[in-house]
Amino acid sequence: MRRQVPYGHPDFGKLIECPACDTLMKRRLGILDGFSSLRGDLLKCDFTHFRVVEGAQFAYEAAIAFARDPKGWLVLHGPNGSGKTHLAAAIALNLRAKGRPVLFMRVPDLMEFLRHAYDEESLYVRSVGESGSMNLLDRLETIRRAPVLVLDDLAAESDTPWVREKLYQILDYRGVERLPTVVTLNIGPNEWADKLGARVADRLGNRLIAKVIYNAARSYRQAQESDAAGGGA
Ligand SMILES: Nc1ncnc2c1ncn2[C@@H]1O[C@H](COP(=O)(O)OP(=O)(O)OP(=O)(O)O)[C@@H](O)[C@H]1O
Ligand SMILES: [Mg+2]
Repeated sequence: MRRQVPYGHPDFGKLIECPACDTLMKRRLGILDGFSSLRGDLLKCDFTHFRVVEGAQFAYEAAIAFARDPKGWLVLHGPNGSGKTHLAAAIALNLRAKGRPVLFMRVPDLMEFLRHAYDEESLYVRSVGESGSMNLLDRLETIRRAPVLVLDDLAAESDTPWVREKLYQILDYRGVERLPTVVTLNIGPNEWADKLGARVADRLGNRLIAKVIYNAARSYRQAQESDAAGGGA
């Protein structure tokens, strides 16, 4: 919006954030925080509990840099158990501790959250004739515009056109607006088009916005299991 000031005023014609929309956005983010996937064991996944094992150095450094100054996109890919979710959670916890609004969503949880709105909305619209207080568009809009968004496990469940469309709507908006975003996924760039669709793959692979980092660490889960069994290398 523009402030109503006389011609010649320094703020004349300048675009400013609408205070009412800002308040609404904060309220919606608060509601969404209740659906955040950052809970349970993930609350312990901070940087201090991350061991910089062989292969994880670049991912660790990129995560630290993003948490220090969230700009652009950080796309972490690599094998199962290599610590991608741990680092994504560490970024979110670090930002949250500094008072920065951040939304951490596992993609399957996010899709559930959107699908639920869809069901609720269609039932509500049919029975009452108007949309509910936070319908699908509100939910999608809040996620698209979250000041910092962490999407964990992007490739999970991405095999339906509906999920691909929602991911595209979120990522395209955030790409155009250059909103800070972290993505983790366990498939590499050469599989993205096939598994996520060409449009999502194109956004993730846009090197002007996204820093794509391969976490080459071997599975920490398996390493721990073999250590526990006395077979650690
Ligand atoms: N370098 C590490 N230091 C400490 N803990 C780690 C490290 N890497 C992974 N872990 C722990 O190992 C477990 C698996 O890691 P995580 O879930 O981050 O893997 P992932 O790469 O996201 O795997 P997936 O592709 O299956 O989602 C978690 O409990 C995590 O905290
Ligand atoms: Mg993971």
